[in-house]
Amino acid sequence: MRRQWFVILLGSLALVLGCSKPHAAPTPAPSASAPPAKTSYVIGVSQCNLGEPWRVQMNADLTQAAARHPNLRLILKDAQNDSLTQRAQVEELAGQGIDLLIISPKEAAPLTKPVADVYARGTPVIVLDRALEGEAYTSFIGADNRRIGREAGKFALAALGGKGNIVELEGLMTSSPGQDRHAGFLEGISLDKNPGIRLVFQADMQWLEPNARKEMESALAAQKSIELVYAHNDPGAHGAYLAAKAAGREQKMKFIGIDALPHEGVRYVKEGILDATFVYPTGGAEAVELALKVLGHEAAPKRITLGTRLYTKANVEAGGQAIE
Ligand code: FRU
Repeated sequence: MRRQWFVILLGSLALVLGCSKPHAAPTPAPSASAPPAKTSYVIGVSQCNLGEPWRVQMNADLTQAAARHPNLRLILKDAQNDSLTQRAQVEELAGQGIDLLIISPKEAAPLTKPVADVYARGTPVIVLDRALEGEAYTSFIGADNRRIGREAGKFALAALGGKGNIVELEGLMTSSPGQDRHAGFLEGISLDKNPGIRLVFQADMQWLEPNARKEMESALAAQKSIELVYAHNDPGAHGAYLAAKAAGREQKMKFIGIDALPHEGVRYVKEGILDATFVYPTGGAEAVELALKVLGHEAAPKRITLGTRLYTKANVEAGGQAIE
């Protein structure tokens, strides 16, 4: 009887110790006495929405990369653009006993704690595209949005020849890409050095084309002269274009977007709808490759920064231009 209690006590102690130790990268290799490493894994994927083509592409990239590894199984959840739903889905995935979580969070604030809880229980977490607060995750993978914003600003400055009115249609400003694409753009157009450039209208279209179209209608009503629209994503730039076209003013302005999916932004550039778009890679394939390393107890970098490309009318047929 006493021996049984001793075993239970030891077991509980091991459990408590195991639970309270946050997962750290690199994960230590299992010792000789530890149970053999698992050979097949379940990865939970928490996607903030599937209403936008870019996110559909991210899931396709994840699925395609995972299909190359028969020992991986993905469980995909779509939070339908609602942070509370995403929070519940993160908890649900963790409850299902996943081996690793990949999350592309809608917003930082409401998702930081639930993800940190999963990580603290020992499940590795890869954050994709939009950032969380703090560092309670294994790795972050995404492009440098501030850099992309800055390049967009420089392109705008050159396209306007230093003179003109700009409308900025922002992505959700409670998400890191919106904040960074805005800050970078301001650096790129450096208003203090270019008195001929004016930012005449700014609105948060929350990444959504219908919102961008409505906001652009307000901008057109308020401003007689608009020379350029910078939208934080291609759906936003397209929505703005449609509003300008409906007002018969689209020929008078230039449109810049971000994402550059082949069947979306790049096509718009080919069709003369957008003047420029910057590639925003989904990171789906990179996330699966990194997940395999983490699950195999290899060292994981805290941050992987992906590159971008610029597509314009001049270079689109040649496949765009790398931004060094
Ligand atoms: C899709 C999207 C993309 C954008 C990214 C930023 O939800 O809005 O268009 O580049 O999210 O996180």
